[in-house]
Amino acid sequence: MRIILFGSPGVGKGTQAKILQAKYNVPHISTGDILREAVKKQTPLGMKAHEIMSRGDLVPDDIIIGIIKDVLTSEECQNGFILDGFPRTLPQAAALDKLLKELEITDVLSIYFTATEEEIVNRLSNRRACHECNNIFSLSEIKDLTKCPVCNAENSFYERNDDKVEVIKKRLQVFNDSTKPTLDYYEEQGKLIFVNALKPVDEVTEDIMKAFDISRVTVH
Ligand code: AP5
Repeated sequence: MRIILFGSPGVGKGTQAKILQAKYNVPHISTGDILREAVKKQTPLGMKAHEIMSRGDLVPDDIIIGIIKDVLTSEECQNGFILDGFPRTLPQAAALDKLLKELEITDVLSIYFTATEEEIVNRLSNRRACHECNNIFSLSEIKDLTKCPVCNAENSFYERNDDKVEVIKKRLQVFNDSTKPTLDYYEEQGKLIFVNALKPVDEVTEDIMKAFDISRVTVH
């Protein structure tokens, strides 16, 4: 399985990528997670990315493209990948096209999750993640805020610092200005499949799986 998940901040890309990773045993490559890990470890990349991410801006293309080249050419991605959060600018899309051509990869399914802005703000304001297992939750599904229902870690929930309302608004603006043109680029090439992400999580997964099954017959 080789999939690119597109969509605005908070639309559910990470949630679906984790489900697909478990179902199909292919790596979930999230540029956001890679950057957050670098911030946590205070690497030079992390120190550079921290302020940019806190503002809701995009990390420079050359840095992100370098990261993706390393990951996609690694052993880990030989049999597939789920790309989450990349590409999100036209130069990133062009760099990915070039790389996939070099690697002779043609069977990539591109999925665009759609939702309303109101729902996005609601989802991001209510998102919590677990420090230990990295699973993502909505406040409405957490019964005991002191214990993670997946890994049982205690007091491990945290709120991302880019999930503050003013930063969410900035991220949505950046999405409209910089990432939407990328989607037009994919759509013009007839490469984009639209999935309604307002549906419940399991129904969104089913729709992706249906699209994947169809693509296996039609994409070569
Ligand atoms: P990144 O981590 O990629 O953030 P994002 O794209 O803004 O997406 P999110 O992780 O916020 O949301 P999501 O779509 O994964 O939603 P989730 O599944 O969590 O990027 C962060 C930052 O890193 C960027 O701002 C930028 O600075 C930098 N960066 C990353 N990639 C970059 C790149 N390529 N170039 C430059 N800079 C880059 O779900 C959200 C909530 O909704 C959760 O609570 C979840 O439980 C809930 N939910 C999910 N699905 C459903 C559903 N169907 N129904 C109800 N609730 C749902």
